[in-house]
Amino acid sequence: MRTTTIQVQEMKRRGERIPMMTAYDYPSARFVEAAGVPMILVGDSLGMVVLGYDSTLPVTMDDMVHHVKAVVRGTQKALVVADLPFMSYQASPEDALRNAGRLLQAAGAQAVKLEGGETLAATVQRLTQAGIPVQGHIGLTPQSVLQFGGYRIQGRSLEAAWQLLRDAQALEAAGAFSVVLEGVPAELAGMITRRVGIPTIGIGAGPQCDGQVQVFHDMLGLYPDFTPKHAKRYANLGQAVQDAVQAYAQEVREGGFPGSHHSVALDPQVAEVLERELSVPATGQPVDMQRW
Ligand code: KIV
Repeated sequence: MRTTTIQVQEMKRRGERIPMMTAYDYPSARFVEAAGVPMILVGDSLGMVVLGYDSTLPVTMDDMVHHVKAVVRGTQKALVVADLPFMSYQASPEDALRNAGRLLQAAGAQAVKLEGGETLAATVQRLTQAGIPVQGHIGLTPQSVLQFGGYRIQGRSLEAAWQLLRDAQALEAAGAFSVVLEGVPAELAGMITRRVGIPTIGIGAGPQCDGQVQVFHDMLGLYPDFTPKHAKRYANLGQAVQDAVQAYAQEVREGGFPGSHHSVALDPQVAEVLERELSVPATGQPVDMQRW
């Protein structure tokens, strides 16, 4: 049985901190679930960390469905939340409903996430009324990077801070089961967390949120030359992978790989016959199998 959105909400009520992490494919999903993380996000950050785009904007519904399916195949217990990609929900609540439905029905997610607050409340309501669990996402919402003029902390001014508080409350009122707070000052995240009944999941929003979400590749150091400020590197796998691939390539060049134990030996009798046959100059004719 997978973690439910109700159980995630109960964790807030019990004061239990909620770990969430991204995964994008079968192996990453298996690692994250095996570590006991109850909620996995198939984020549209996959556009940047898996597909090599310079923003999340090019990510399509087909991309999301493909990756969500793999994450679902790699998990049995985690609640899988799938991002609605750019332009899959902004144009109308009907678009949102159709695309969110696809992420649940065709891809197997248990919830969707969308970026936006008060202005998206009607859309969130449409989805939740149709039985689709929704996680909101406010603050530094990466799909608005062009409007923000870069990945900038949000909610610094009094006006912007009030707006974020209103956004979180509007999402709760619309039925969202939780809300991601990204790139907002820590004190503001704390104030929002105390003023909404749904769990807040922070990324670059300080320790007062009910939970935290991190990007798989950031946490594991898979890109050694880039770690965002909000991320803590728990391993240096990028370097480890690089070293391993280099060692392999060198061993192939030098004949150190494969060793005798990396392949199977031919039956000596078969080998003997083959050697004998092959020592006869080739006729260009197919070998007469009957002679064997
Ligand atoms: O796409 C993503 O990975 C996200 C997290 C950064 C919250 O939205």
